[in-house]
Amino acid sequence: MTAIENRINTYLEDTISAERNFEHALASFGEAGEQGKVQSMLSSFSAKAKTQHERLTQLLERRGGSPSTAKTILAQTLAFTPLSAQIGQGSSEKNTQHLMVTFAAAAAEMAMYESLAVAAMTAGDTEVASLARTLQSEEQDDYNQVWSILHESVRESFEAATASGSSPAELIRTYVQDAIAAENSFETQLNGFSKEGNDPAIQSLFAEHAVETKGQYEALTTCLEALGGSTSTFKSLLAHVFNFAPKIAQVGYDAEERMTQNLMMAFAVENAEVAMYECLAESCRLAGDAETESLVLRIQQQEKATAEKVWSRIAPKAEQSILELRSAA
Ligand SMILES: [Fe+2]
Ligand SMILES: [Fe+2]
Repeated sequence: MTAIENRINTYLEDTISAERNFEHALASFGEAGEQGKVQSMLSSFSAKAKTQHERLTQLLERRGGSPSTAKTILAQTLAFTPLSAQIGQGSSEKNTQHLMVTFAAAAAEMAMYESLAVAAMTAGDTEVASLARTLQSEEQDDYNQVWSILHESVRESFEAATASGSSPAELIRTYVQDAIAAENSFETQLNGFSKEGNDPAIQSLFAEHAVETKGQYEALTTCLEALGGSTSTFKSLLAHVFNFAPKIAQVGYDAEERMTQNLMMAFAVENAEVAMYECLAESCRLAGDAETESLVLRIQQQEKATAEKVWSRIAPKAEQSILELRSAA
């Protein structure tokens, strides 16, 4: 087996491991909360993830590889486990949060398959490239389905929370606090990304968005104070979902690979934020808080713009990884 064939097989192992992780996480989301429509959607995504890793495994085995039992970086980084331990959230709100997480996971997978498809095409592996594109369109479909149900889920959560005694203003304060905690954690992570790897253009993209992110949580903090709230020290749910710590332990990946991993993670994070602010804006509408809504929508535009910039870097990076391997051979 050539080094390039071997590399493509390693990528296949990564996607199999990630899909296994998503299958389990989505199955647990399907059982949680009280919004039946969300639960059955997420259960159907779990069943889809199962067929995806099965198709990938069949292809890998035909290529002489075998799935590894190691948990890959993407699977490690998108750690879903702490979610089930989540406390102090209404049952209905939990469903809305699972939608945000699933939206980010679908985005991560779209990025993962973009990278695989481009690497495989560059390597001349058309069978792998074709499966990668098929699975990518399935992820895009999950992503769209989640988006289409988001507002309805927020409305149900909002109604359930107010029915059980929370005031609309109180809810907005809690959600803004959560966004501040998430931005805080993302700023730290973006600064970390900006110092890793070997691609100055990508590193400065991360550094610029770290500065923008700092501005976001400052603006949100000012907003929260005006609403009569104060920042809390609790770790936000979204920050929990992205388990950034194990990256340091990452071994066996070169600098190129690392940049690709960071791009996938960043794309997932920006999409998590897009979904988070979409939900927050809808809650603001329900609470009649136009001022917070307009701040939130302004921040959401920055997240969308960053997601697009990150996306545009994924394919060139995947191609470069294979070309470098070829020139080293
Ligand atoms: Fe942000
Ligand atoms: Fe962001």
